[in-house]
Amino acid sequence: MYRMRNMLGTRGHIPVLFMVVLFSFVYCPVRATVSYDGKGFIINGVRRILISGSIHYPRSSPEMWPDLLQKAKDGGLDVIQTYVFWNGHEPSPGKYNFEGRYDLVKFIKLVQQAGLFVHLRIGPYICAEWNFGGFPVWLKYIPGMEFRTDNQPFKEAMQGFVELIVDLLKLEKLFEPQGGPIIMSQIENEFGPVEWEIGDPGKAYTKWMTQMAIGLNTGVPWIMCKQEDAPDPIIDTCNGFYCENFHPNKPYKPKMFTEVWTGWYTQFGGPVPRRPAEDLAFAVTRFVQNNGSFFNYYMYHGGTNFGRTGAGLFVATSYDYDAPLDEYGLVNEPKYGHLSGLHRAIKLAEPALVSSYPIVTWPGKNQEVHVFRSETGACAAFLSNYDPQFSAKVTFLNLQYDLPPWSISILPDCKNVVYNTATVRSPSLQTNMIPVGSGFSWQSYTEEIASSDDSDTVAAADGMWEQINVTRDSSDYLWYMTEVNIAPDEEFLRNGKDPVVTVMSAGHALHIFINSELSGTRATTLLRPRFSCLPSCLKFSGRVIGTVYGGLAFPKLTYSNSVKLRAGINKISLLSVAVGLPNVGLHFEKWNAGVLGPVSLSGLNEGTRDLTNQTWFYKVGMKGELLSLNTVTGSSSVEWEDGPLLASKQPLTWYKATFDAPEGNDPLALDMSSMGKGEIWVNGEGVGRHWPGYTAQGSCSSECNYAGTYNQKKCQVNCGQPSQRWYHVPRSWLKSSGNFLVVFEEWGGDPDRISMVRRTNN
Ligand code: GAL
Repeated sequence: MYRMRNMLGTRGHIPVLFMVVLFSFVYCPVRATVSYDGKGFIINGVRRILISGSIHYPRSSPEMWPDLLQKAKDGGLDVIQTYVFWNGHEPSPGKYNFEGRYDLVKFIKLVQQAGLFVHLRIGPYICAEWNFGGFPVWLKYIPGMEFRTDNQPFKEAMQGFVELIVDLLKLEKLFEPQGGPIIMSQIENEFGPVEWEIGDPGKAYTKWMTQMAIGLNTGVPWIMCKQEDAPDPIIDTCNGFYCENFHPNKPYKPKMFTEVWTGWYTQFGGPVPRRPAEDLAFAVTRFVQNNGSFFNYYMYHGGTNFGRTGAGLFVATSYDYDAPLDEYGLVNEPKYGHLSGLHRAIKLAEPALVSSYPIVTWPGKNQEVHVFRSETGACAAFLSNYDPQFSAKVTFLNLQYDLPPWSISILPDCKNVVYNTATVRSPSLQTNMIPVGSGFSWQSYTEEIASSDDSDTVAAADGMWEQINVTRDSSDYLWYMTEVNIAPDEEFLRNGKDPVVTVMSAGHALHIFINSELSGTRATTLLRPRFSCLPSCLKFSGRVIGTVYGGLAFPKLTYSNSVKLRAGINKISLLSVAVGLPNVGLHFEKWNAGVLGPVSLSGLNEGTRDLTNQTWFYKVGMKGELLSLNTVTGSSSVEWEDGPLLASKQPLTWYKATFDAPEGNDPLALDMSSMGKGEIWVNGEGVGRHWPGYTAQGSCSSECNYAGTYNQKKCQVNCGQPSQRWYHVPRSWLKSSGNFLVVFEEWGGDPDRISMVRRTNN
């Protein structure tokens, strides 16, 4: 009946202990203030069960950080985990940004002030539903670049950034042996599946990055998540909804759950996923009772993808994640309270948990008992019922305990139940979005539709250009413009059978204008199924990332529809929109976006005319972007309309208004439900992309049974509604009066119904 033996017992453990001792000499070059063994981390001589939560500093405002961190501390966390966001810190080569939301040093110091440690995931590939997985787009254009493999240009760039970050943090004395809060770091992110795909170059890259990371002498351990072959002394760790059966690749490494997914992210066009608090607590407890000694909630506070930081495909601006702290920084109950209770119970059990391996018995079907007993007499027990339907009675040390379905009770003294994962005592709070103020007084400016004879086109060329290569991601938008000559004897001019234009694009969205009139719009179909997919779908690491198109993997889009053409010259303007660059997959250097062709016109006397290789003209971005209409100064460069002339339901329209900050301290948001798609700014700061015109397709459930294995599609809400209606405006961006709000609307919307709301929960 024994699964594991007490680590301090005699049988079979001498080699392990010997290796631990030997090992600690090898990997701790500074002072062994943070070390580990198979039981967990030892910080300044104290063995710990570490409770961690992800808060990504650029996903909230610096003014929100102290409160978020205090709530994390109050919620029972020991550690804050964050990625480091390379493309935020180095927007162009050698030009660094460590200010505002990217003030990494300030964030880490605030974590320390709150009495918490830091787990720093440097990456610098970070995934994270963040634009291009955190990579600066300029990397793609370094000659010879191949991402995340044994490639010299990539390795040089990666090492340069990792060293920069480590040096900066050392200078600020932020690593634990220097008296700082950073107790561990991560190199790469979930590289295992990539290595498995690419083979030897992947293995060589792993070896290289291991040596590179260790050579930085941070004095704290490194981890690699989802990488079974992580070389010593790097610890391999688990990410997922559940990780109880995970084992690190060596017995002398601690068992770590670096991403316990507290919910899931929302995509424009998809429903909003929720994860029940009971199941989340169950997953964590199941991990801890199986000797888990570090777990991290991904996310503890998800926050917001401000500006254009959200990734493709169509990751929403809200990164709420159904995390214990909601997007606005308010407690998400009952999740926050229920987990706080779990953390208290784990702390009570900690003396026993850190000093012994569990002894496991199976008192009945679907039942397990895990007992931790230290040599000094501490005893903690976990009583589990894995049955998703029926409750169970378990007898333990002559006492009987009732267990609800799919639940675990924690007995920190092996006698009294202080916590059951399915017994929620925290009240649910109702969240409200309460309108404030009396609406906005708008002015509008509608852009002219770009066309081939504009004087400010970027270039003309025969054939179609790849979008990101032209825009370098400076804008979501690229115009492709050409002309077609229609002879007066075309049959369709008489029989009314309009010709059909067909455009093949690598995505992500497309508007077609014929002679300056919007003729049609199309977005890449959101490939939502993550676990099942059409044969042509390309899956990576369990995630659908696109379809195979032209030999490469990217989200494709085909537009095919009739168009109104007249005799003579007709202007065709295609506005291609890249809605965030993908954050996951292989060969980032090969990803494409935009209209790669073919583009054709069928239904002519000659049959089909191929337009792909004729002359196309290009223009990057919207005119309003070039003029910085999102700023007060920039906005004075055009004439704005208002009153009866205010544009409504017009594509490519800019709106501006000024407003006073609503009173009080409640978090604020803009209700954008009357709008289609575009971008929002307040006082020049990017609130994010809005796309309420994309309603949530998928299956939702009004009831969500916490019991049974969870996946992100199990408890979705919001079907048929805009995937995201409200857009967070951090309070700290506002002055008391005269705030400048700008909305760029791509499709056409009714600005008069935009309103400011305050978020409360009670
Ligand atoms: C993980 C990844 C995270 C995040 C998460 C989904 O696999 O490491 O960065 O993308 O998936 O939210």
